[in-house]
Amino acid sequence: MLSERPTFDVRLTPADQTRALRTDAVTGLTARPKWLRPTWFYDARGSMLFDEITRLPEYYPTRTERSILTVHAADIAATTGAETLVELGSGASDKTRLLIEAGLDHGTLARFVPLDVSESALRAAAATLAARYPKLAVHGVVGDFTRHLDALPDTGHRLVVFLGGTIGNLLPPDRARFLADLRGVLHPGEWLLLGTDLVKDIPTLLAAYDDPGGVTADFNRNVLRVLNRELAGDFPVDEFAHVARWDAEGERIEMHLRAGRALTVTLAALDLTIEFADGEDLCTEISAKFRPAGIAAELSAAGFAVADLWTDPADAFAVTLARAVP
Ligand code: SAH
Ligand code: AVI
Repeated sequence: MLSERPTFDVRLTPADQTRALRTDAVTGLTARPKWLRPTWFYDARGSMLFDEITRLPEYYPTRTERSILTVHAADIAATTGAETLVELGSGASDKTRLLIEAGLDHGTLARFVPLDVSESALRAAAATLAARYPKLAVHGVVGDFTRHLDALPDTGHRLVVFLGGTIGNLLPPDRARFLADLRGVLHPGEWLLLGTDLVKDIPTLLAAYDDPGGVTADFNRNVLRVLNRELAGDFPVDEFAHVARWDAEGERIEMHLRAGRALTVTLAALDLTIEFADGEDLCTEISAKFRPAGIAAELSAAGFAVADLWTDPADAFAVTLARAVP
């Protein structure tokens, strides 16, 4: 008999996270231009702010991806026959419920394995899902999808889902490495379901990353709060402006934090002093937008064959089902 209590594998303890943040902060904040990995947005507050973003009228990706999954979830369950559903960067696993319910209805799905760096979001989602679906075994992994794919249990025929367009938050070489690593832990015939935001008109893209209520700005600045708390920093959070811009060459939105004046910031835990010139930018996130041919090419280069690619009527977002090939 299955227990309703989820199990967990913690590959990234709070101490590991602080160590990784220290390394990233030294590398990124002493570089020209300055940058940080978007992974650091997602402490408990950042995860809640992201959830708020997903409900904003301007932020179309979440509701659009949900609409695609609503139409195709039964087809995905039947085609893949998945026994284990793995979700990378799972967050609240909200849209994933469509896939879980389709898999349970199809009669094959037995196990759900969410993996996320945000332990609070992961534990909350795992508890909710385990209580809601008593026949489903839920095993959460606190980990980094660029480092801990080896923690994914090799149990049952697997479908790995990576939703929300989060793959676009990786730079192209990191994307290629991530997809190749993922292919490396799968058996031929196992599946990947990948959500990707698509290239579209620039005003729609910019509005999605710069809402008038300032939720995205708050989410962006949250990384400075994380640095202040974890590394004894003194970033004057409100003196950094939220900037979202379209990089036409890279076909990506970039989020930056722009210093409102010349600033000297200290991270006491690192003995590090950082100078910002007036108007200097710190890049906190890239969010690449894709074209269907490019998605297929990147998947193929990593050893996946596209079985289906679905979009919404406005071609705003794509969900691609691909199979690991020998
Ligand atoms: N998949 C959800 C959440 C997307 S937000 C959706 O589609 O709505 C991005 C999620 O990825 C967050 O939950 C964040 O904590 C997680 N994340 C970011 N970088 C990560 C990394 N390197 N490894 C694991 N999880 C990561
Ligand atoms: C998680 N990720 C796909 C989001 C995105 O759209 O790139 C994060 C986000 N950044 C600003 N708004 C939402």
